[in-house]
Amino acid sequence: MKYYLTTPIYYVNAAPHIGHTYTTIAADAIKRFKRMQGFDPVVLTTGTDEHGQKVERAAKGAGKAPEEFTTAVAAEFKKQWDTFGLQYDHFLRTSDPRHHDAVRWLFERCQKNGAIYKGSYTGQYCVFDELYVSEAKPGDPCPDCGRPTETVTEENYFFKLAAFSGRLLELYEKQPDFIQPDTRRNEVIAFVKQGLNDLSISRTTIKWGIPVPAEGNHVFYVWFDALMTYLTAVRGQRDSEGHDLWPADLHLIGKEIVRFHAVYWPAFLMAAELPLPKRIFAHGWLLFEHDKMSKSRGNIVRAEPIRRVMGADALRYFLLREIVFGQDGSFSYDALVGRYNSDLANGLGNLASRTLTMIHQYRGGAIPPGSDDKIRQVACETIRAAAEAFYNFEFSKGLEVIWSLISAVDKFIVEQGPWKFAKQQDTESQAALDRTLYTSAEALRVATILLAPVLPESCARIWTQLGMTEPLGSVRLDALAWGQLHAGQEIGEVRGVFPRIDAKPAIEKMRALEAEVAAEQAALLGNAPTPSAEAASAGSQITIDDFVKVDLRVGQVLSAERVKGADKLLHLKVDLAEAEPRTIVAGIAEAYTPEQLIGRKVVIVANLAPRKLRGLTSNGMIVAASVEGGKPVLASFLEDIPVGAHLK
Ligand code: ME8
Ligand code: MG
Repeated sequence: MKYYLTTPIYYVNAAPHIGHTYTTIAADAIKRFKRMQGFDPVVLTTGTDEHGQKVERAAKGAGKAPEEFTTAVAAEFKKQWDTFGLQYDHFLRTSDPRHHDAVRWLFERCQKNGAIYKGSYTGQYCVFDELYVSEAKPGDPCPDCGRPTETVTEENYFFKLAAFSGRLLELYEKQPDFIQPDTRRNEVIAFVKQGLNDLSISRTTIKWGIPVPAEGNHVFYVWFDALMTYLTAVRGQRDSEGHDLWPADLHLIGKEIVRFHAVYWPAFLMAAELPLPKRIFAHGWLLFEHDKMSKSRGNIVRAEPIRRVMGADALRYFLLREIVFGQDGSFSYDALVGRYNSDLANGLGNLASRTLTMIHQYRGGAIPPGSDDKIRQVACETIRAAAEAFYNFEFSKGLEVIWSLISAVDKFIVEQGPWKFAKQQDTESQAALDRTLYTSAEALRVATILLAPVLPESCARIWTQLGMTEPLGSVRLDALAWGQLHAGQEIGEVRGVFPRIDAKPAIEKMRALEAEVAAEQAALLGNAPTPSAEAASAGSQITIDDFVKVDLRVGQVLSAERVKGADKLLHLKVDLAEAEPRTIVAGIAEAYTPEQLIGRKVVIVANLAPRKLRGLTSNGMIVAASVEGGKPVLASFLEDIPVGAHLK
């Protein structure tokens, strides 16, 4: 039986962060687990979403043509998955000509079945989320991201979404696990019940997209385009027994894009008379200090520094163990290192090295015979419970169960005290020593198999050290039972799998690397580095000595003008009661017009090192409040205050 799963097709308006890595790691773990369950082939599609206004603007901001820009960023995503050893089968870019054909094919099938019409539409559009906000008035913010919406009038092709309400509700009813978890399912049902509007699926206002057949100036709406990648990747493909790879068995997504996947996508497929995906699973958000981690909020953590310092498996384990899959969860380096040391170094790593070392020491490296009944029972129950949890995508629960086996074996070793038996030459003591060693090694083998989907690299190493010759990847879950480890088997050389990590230097190193990787990515993207959340909050505690280093002064804006080719920047001349007014380039053009600023008193960081932006040298920084999802708000005074006054 085939199993086909997908990750979202990530936007290429910025480089990947651990939010994207989270979904892709989970997909990779599911793929490995499904293979252990016996599905064959298990096919995983990921890729990049390259069209639309958001990407077009990012390319423009980087001073690059969209093709060049998207190619560079797509390569960055791909490199990230490759260095993490993630086993995707298809990396599909929406710019792929094969995909263009597929989208036109979908459109024509929908059109032929009467689900498409042409009409004019005026609405409030959120460029960031690429959607019209229904019932919004001009000036209203987007309810999802809080950014201001734009009024857009277009002649568009419309998809008759409203006509599918009944069939969609029936789908959710008949297939209760179509959308998981249940909270997401309930939201979707409520959304559809409240009435659907037809959906505009073409744009004339942008160029960067897939052209609509026979229409010179229409391109497809990004979501009509992006969702189709799932099908494009495997279109016409069959497994060796002739089963179509489509439909997908699982679309894995983050919770913010449920509506597109659970409402629009099945409706498109229904209209085109194509098979529907079996399941959509929406996981929660990775948070950083209570906010969703996202490139637009500037609070991201990158995966690469973690991999370089702690290894890919450390991040895989943390994400799948610490966060209940489906719910939001917080990331921090402290928690990451803490989990690593307590569970991987002291737990699994310690059990492996201790067990294997004793087998070398007491039994010349050959696995002795014997088995403890209590541990056998715990192990059998662990196999059952862990498989069930992974089957339900309850990774943290599954891992917890496996760790209870690890602790049980640890306790067993301490209670038995094999080092005491070793000193006694009587048959009984020697048999007890054999039994303790076999039991520990067999429990280790069982744990290694169960953990392989989550910790593939480390488990492969433990597997070799155990002297196993059969490839770990070919072990089938339904064939896994206690007692399959052969007595007499020669084990390999013992090498520590999870060396203990000294938290402070490791975290410092990751922070330093984070800045380095951010700079590399910024160079690639041709923009300013997205600040790292960790780096930003690392210095949150300062002393008065630190504070007095910052020279904050009252200035008055003498002139203000827009910076060519930069939507966000204003070029200001600010009087600080110095010989010359200062040139300051400020990212506030979306919040303030030049006219609003002239004559206004503002707070300036006066001793900031000069910075070159768009050919202008900015000598200082303007102080503004940054509001979650909103525009910057300038710091100002109610009282009259002389220009040049210091803030202390
Ligand atoms: O939405 N926590 O792309 P995108 C958890 N192109 N997961 C996160 C995350 C976070 N803080 N941040 C990102 C798009 N993700 C569309 C998808 S699909 C046909 C088109 C993950 O670049 C999560 O999987 O904004 C989320 O759904 C996805 O990245 C969004 O990536
Ligand atoms: Mg997003």
